[in-house]
Formats: sequence, C-alpha cells, structure tokens
Amino acid sequence: MNVTIIGTGYVGLVSAAVLAEIGHDVVCIDVNEEKIQRLRNGECPIFEKGLPELLEKNKHRMRFLSDYQQGCQDAAIIMIAVGTPEKKDGSANLSYVFGAAKEVCYNLDHDAILIVKSTVPIGTNDEVERIVQENLTKEIHVEVVSNPEFLSQGTAVSDMMQGYRIVAGCESDYAREKIKALYEPLKQPLVLTDRRSAEMIKYASNDFLALKISYINEIANLCECLGANVEDVATGMGFDPRIGDKFLRAGIGYGGSCFPKDTKALHWMAIQNDYEIKTVKAAITVNENQKFRLLQKAKNYYDSFEGIEIAVLGLAFKPGTDDLREAPSLAIIPALLEDGAKIRAWDPCAEDAFRGQVDNSAKGEIRFCGSLRESLREADLCLILTEWDQVKALTPADFKEMRRPIIIDGRNCFCLEDMENEAIVYASIGRKTVGSLSQNLNIYMMERKDGES
Ligand code: UDX
Repeated sequence: MNVTIIGTGYVGLVSAAVLAEIGHDVVCIDVNEEKIQRLRNGECPIFEKGLPELLEKNKHRMRFLSDYQQGCQDAAIIMIAVGTPEKKDGSANLSYVFGAAKEVCYNLDHDAILIVKSTVPIGTNDEVERIVQENLTKEIHVEVVSNPEFLSQGTAVSDMMQGYRIVAGCESDYAREKIKALYEPLKQPLVLTDRRSAEMIKYASNDFLALKISYINEIANLCECLGANVEDVATGMGFDPRIGDKFLRAGIGYGGSCFPKDTKALHWMAIQNDYEIKTVKAAITVNENQKFRLLQKAKNYYDSFEGIEIAVLGLAFKPGTDDLREAPSLAIIPALLEDGAKIRAWDPCAEDAFRGQVDNSAKGEIRFCGSLRESLREADLCLILTEWDQVKALTPADFKEMRRPIIIDGRNCFCLEDMENEAIVYASIGRKTVGSLSQNLNIYMMERKDGES
C-alpha cells in the first residue's frame, strides 16, 4: 500500500521504517526542511536503536518530502504523527494535528484513510473528522481512524515489530478492511473499536503503567520504614499473572514524553467533565515527590551541599535515549545547584541537551565529565539518576576512588550483597542502606558535622 506519514519524530519515523520493512511504500512529510534533507542523505536524525539500519535497508521504499501536495499524491493511507505538547494547564496542544489535517484536505485529490497516530484527548478524532469534512476541496471520501501507538523510546522498533496489540478506532467496514490490510504482515492481535474508545485505550494504558510505577515507589518508601526489600516484594508480586512482573521497578519516578503528559491530560479531561480521577491524581503527586527522595537521603550525610562535589550519573529520563523530557535530573540538579553544590555530571548521550538547561545564575556549578571515572574522582557524594549499562558495570572498587564514597542510587543498579561490607555507603530505593565509611572517613564526616554545628 502507499502510506504517507506526516511528522518525522520518533513515532512517525519508526512507524515509517517498520511499514516499509513489511512491504509498504512510504512517504514521510515534515515541514522541517533540514530534517528532510538529512533523511534524504541517509542520516537518521534521532537516537533510536535499530532505526538507522532499518532506514538504510528500506531506503528504496521510502521517500522524504516537505511538500504536502507531492506527499499526498498516491497515498491510500495518510498518518498524522505530529507532536501534541502539553499546555500550561495540562491539556494537549492540538494545533499541529489540526494543522496537518487541514493541509491534507487542501492537497488530496482522491479517497483515503486519515489515521491519527498522535496521542490525543478523547474526542479529538471526531473533531479531526469535522475539520476534514469542512476543508476538503474535492468530492472525495476521507475517513478518520484513531490508531494510537504504544512505542517506548529506545525499543520503539521492536515494540512495533513485536507489539502486544494494534488498536484502531474505525467508524466503517471500509476503514476496518484498510487497517487490517495495512497491519496484516505484523501478525499481531488487532483490537477494532470506535474512535473514542481507541483514544481512551492509549491514555488508560499509559496511565495504568504510570500508576503501577507510583504504587511500587510508595511500597518502596514504606519498605524503607519497615525494613523490607522492595526488589523481593516486586518479585513476589510479579509472579501473579494478574499483576505481572513489568513496571514494578522502584526508583525516582517516571519521566519521558508520555507518562507525565498523559497522566496530566487524563486528569485534565476528567476535570473538564466534572469528574476527579483520584488514582491518576495520586500517581502524579507521588511521582513529583519521588524525584526528591535522593536529596532527602543525601541530607543524612550533608546538611548543606555548599561546596560539595557531587557525581551525578545519568541525565536522560531512562537509558538508551538522549531525551531529557521530564527527566528527574531536571528537578534534582537545579535543586543541588541552588544549594551551592559542585556537580560532576556524566551521561553518554544527553549531555549536549542538558547543557542548554543549566541555570548559570545558581550558586553552584556544573561540569560535564567525559567518563565515569572523571565524574567519580574527588566526589564527596554520588547520585545515580539513570541506570545506564555503563553505570551498572561499575564495581565497589570504582566507587572507592571517590573522595568520600557515599552512593545514593535512585535506580537500584547494584545488588546489596555486592555492596555490603565495603568501605562505602550505599543507599538505594526501598532497601536497607549498606556498607559503612572507613574509620578515617567517618572521623572526617563527624568533624565536618561538628564544624557546621
Ligand atoms: C512509555 C510507554 O512504555 C509506551 O508504551 C508509550 O507509548 C510511551 O510511554 P517511554 O516513555 O519511552 O514509553 O518509556 P518507558 O520505558 O515506558 O519508561 C517511562 C518511565 O518510567 C522512565 O522514566 C522509566 O525510568 C520509568 N520506569 C519504568 C520506572 O521507574 N519503573 C519501571 O518499572 C518502569
């Protein structure tokens, strides 16, 4: 089939590459000419595992354009995969979706299915249908289908190739048949429903996962109070298939472009309908507080961070991406800088993006380190914010190179047994604190505390 995809962000581009891989001819449209040029030159403009290879392999079936008229020419299916950024009040900004739909209407001269892939509030697809009917310039039949994606950054290609399900909200048999034909090669369960239910499936799924994370984070906080180990608790829970073992990793909370935005959007939609969705509201509050658990723990060792050298390992919201959207680092690092800390930050991908976010007026200072070793050397404290493989490969001996080896791990990267009985302090989430400072360091810490009081 001829498929045209509007928007070459990670959803649009991954969808395009996978649809080409399963045999469709794909055109990608983006208003950003520079991005289109890079794609034409064989460059992959985003960091996504397996995507450059897939684009290269299927380049004979893919075209990149910035012109709608040319891009819509032969399309049987047109997909809108543009951004829906969060507005200040928590609602989604739909202007890009509506704008793309109008452009399609002005440039299309034959029947087609218009798929909305972007995550949009319930009812948006109906609104797109209305916009389409109002703006079509020719006597043609265009039908709007809600087809949300369930891609995670870093694993988006395999998420689409081996997805758990495909959801499509269609209002006619004609649309249902087209959707079946489009996705048939993927051999995945197909959930066909109406447009509003399809839109809701996306929010209900993402918010459920966010809820699950906030729930395990609260259990972790309680484990700390009661002397239990959250990892064992999660393992014990996860064997029950009604609960499942995924998304039960306790930590410093969820970030990224989806969970924070989608929880707030559902909360906002509920309020607009005079309903309060209390579970989701609680998940949002728990997540906001969870980011600061590390700082509360660090306060057990330092009353103030003024002049303290702090190794911060990981800036991205999760490993495998350079994305900083809603990353806990964006809340934690400014708080440390405000308190006068000297940050030694390390991240294999997100450093450049983070540079632009630093507030130079803060009391403290930030230095970006090219290696984990450089970050740890001479540090008085280490905070782990992202569970990169490189971090997980560190050993107690690596941490002993710190001036004062106090590690506060927001992602539970290490086994407690490996850290026990070492001349380091290791505090994590939902587990007991292990290890102890060597005699000399303990004396140093006590002197420091005495000096402050
Ligand atoms: C998510 C959904 O997984 C995906 O289906 C949807 O389409 C988009 O949103 P993504 O944001 O890329 O994908 O990342 P994901 O891997 O789901 O992680 C989200 C956040 O939750 C990360 O900050 C991660 O660190 C955190 N997380 C995840 C936990 O804290 N604990 C867990 O057990 C799982």
